[in-house]
Amino acid sequence: MVDSAQPQTALITGASAGIGKAFAHLFAQNGFDVVLVARRQDKLDELANDIKKTHGQLAYVIALDLGDPDAPQRIFDWCQQHHVQVDALVNNAGYALNCDFLDADWEEHRAFIQVMMTSVVHLTHLFSKGMKARGRGRIINLASIAAWAPQLKGNLYNAAKAFVLDFSQAIDLELKPHGVHCTAVCPGFTFSEFHDVMGNRKTVSRLPRFLWMTAEEVAQEGFDAVMEGKAVHVPGLVNQGVSQVMAMLPPRVKEFLSKQQKIM
Ligand SMILES: NC(=O)c1ccc[n+]([C@@H]2O[C@H](COP(=O)([O-])OP(=O)(O)OC[C@H]3O[C@@H](n4cnc5c(N)ncnc54)[C@H](OP(=O)(O)O)[C@@H]3O)[C@@H](O)[C@H]2O)c1
Repeated sequence: MVDSAQPQTALITGASAGIGKAFAHLFAQNGFDVVLVARRQDKLDELANDIKKTHGQLAYVIALDLGDPDAPQRIFDWCQQHHVQVDALVNNAGYALNCDFLDADWEEHRAFIQVMMTSVVHLTHLFSKGMKARGRGRIINLASIAAWAPQLKGNLYNAAKAFVLDFSQAIDLELKPHGVHCTAVCPGFTFSEFHDVMGNRKTVSRLPRFLWMTAEEVAQEGFDAVMEGKAVHVPGLVNQGVSQVMAMLPPRVKEFLSKQQKIM
């Protein structure tokens, strides 16, 4: 996949912070030019400059809100207009709403579904056609160990991540024979801005250090997994153990745990 004779480009959503930022550095370090997508233009510009200086790769910035249903098509059109061929796509942008279902208005849920699921599918649909035609490509979709977790009261996050996990496996099955690999990367607790945005930093900071990974560790494992053509990867031994136990829980036990509301 990494062919120094031929420049390659990775497009990373949610590149302004956390795991996305770590992916951007990692792809650039491995010889890819990068297209950086998120809302905060200042953070993306800063990262683009850093990547050019540190890794000597081209870094493009597209600042937009993935909650806008037109965003995936605008990103694709921008790449076409600027003759940027995307060889690797990282659907990483994400967040969680921290409230009961009926306490958020419909616009909040609509935007959440758009960012977490629809934009992932739409960007994959737009960019994987070219990858298939060229006979090579890599797609990383950020799911979570929450995909296997018991449900939390009124929370759409676990459902969204279960969707991303299943969707990624289905796409990998279709595209693998054409040289395009799609990997669902399923992290557990990762140091980033995620829990600050969610507003539960105080609660999660009480969790022991061994449950946490750095964004750089998660990105490295995700990068290796997609290059090896793995359909699903859970970074870290602790997360692998936790996700396997959760996946094996009988529905009644899951229901019991959900009612305790003490899973995450
Ligand atoms: N951290 C964890 O413990 C953890 C665990 C499992 C899975 N994950 C998943 O990993 C992925 C990355 O999360 P992270 O931990 O790196 O979180 P983070 O540090 O909060 O970064 C999230 C990124 O998503 C972008 N983003 C959020 N809403 C957006 C929108 N509407 N339009 C465009 N970009 C948007 C943010 O950029 P702007 O604010 O600049 O738009 C930011 O770059 C997410 O999919 C998350 O669900 C995280």
